[in-house]
Amino acid sequence: MAAITASVYTSHVPAIGAALDLGKSGEPYWQKVFSGYEFSKQWLRDNTPDVIFLVYNDHANAFSLDLIPTFAIGCAPEFAIADEGWGPRPVPKVIGHPELAAHIAQSVIQDDFDLTVVNKMPVDHGLTVPLSLMCGQPPADKFAWPCPVIPFAVNVVQYPVPSGHRCFNLGRAIRKAVASFDAPLKVQVWGTGGMSHQLQGPRAGLINREWDTAFLDQLIADPATLAQKPHIDYVREAGSEGIELVMWLIARGAMGDESGPGTPRVAHRFYHVPASNTAVGHLILENQA
Ligand code: DHB
Ligand code: FE
Repeated sequence: MAAITASVYTSHVPAIGAALDLGKSGEPYWQKVFSGYEFSKQWLRDNTPDVIFLVYNDHANAFSLDLIPTFAIGCAPEFAIADEGWGPRPVPKVIGHPELAAHIAQSVIQDDFDLTVVNKMPVDHGLTVPLSLMCGQPPADKFAWPCPVIPFAVNVVQYPVPSGHRCFNLGRAIRKAVASFDAPLKVQVWGTGGMSHQLQGPRAGLINREWDTAFLDQLIADPATLAQKPHIDYVREAGSEGIELVMWLIARGAMGDESGPGTPRVAHRFYHVPASNTAVGHLILENQA
């Protein structure tokens, strides 16, 4: 049977992708950001899964106000890189895993979560920047992402957005779905976006280090209580775009707890301010074998 072996959590700031794509990653400003991912790149080489289930948000690139799915699962064999206005990033297209994606959709929908099945979904910085941070950026012609990726898009852009509680329980349903897939696949679940940031209005530039630190502590040790936090607390304390953090609760719900293989091990933790307008947070949690 398939099993979830680990989860990765990281911010997804588009300027990080631009720094990599434009050869600026050696600059002191960006070095401080990328230094937090040196361990992670080696860890991913040592712990390459068969599939990554990547929870992210689309930023009006695949979807628009015409259609706003709360949860969209990418079931296609491949996903193009979105053109975000400056042309698509020069990174490989994403290869999907239609069999596992369809199985998860079947299981999770029967568990009463309303997923939208999507067979065409260009993926934007929300998905490609976490992949770049974790996989690095070799020359485009020789480069492919290390394994298939199932994109799972969550609406945290246009209200109403899903609660942390619903996201956490959805993660638990994804854990159950993966465990019933009849193939010996190692699966990682990645939760992306966050941490504190606000991009517009009088509070633009808001960063809340104390709140972010407490969020990381509680995500590790007591995610069920963290999941009770109402969405308005994220917006007040972590800024309007801080709401992206509810996606980390999907990945955490998919990991172990008292009902599953136990509390996961912290393999890596990093926090840095700033990258563009955002506080960068990053965690790797491993399930105990
Ligand atoms: C920034 C952060 C985001 O999450 C995003 O989607 C766009 C911009 C930023 O900090 O610049
Ligand atoms: Fe974002």
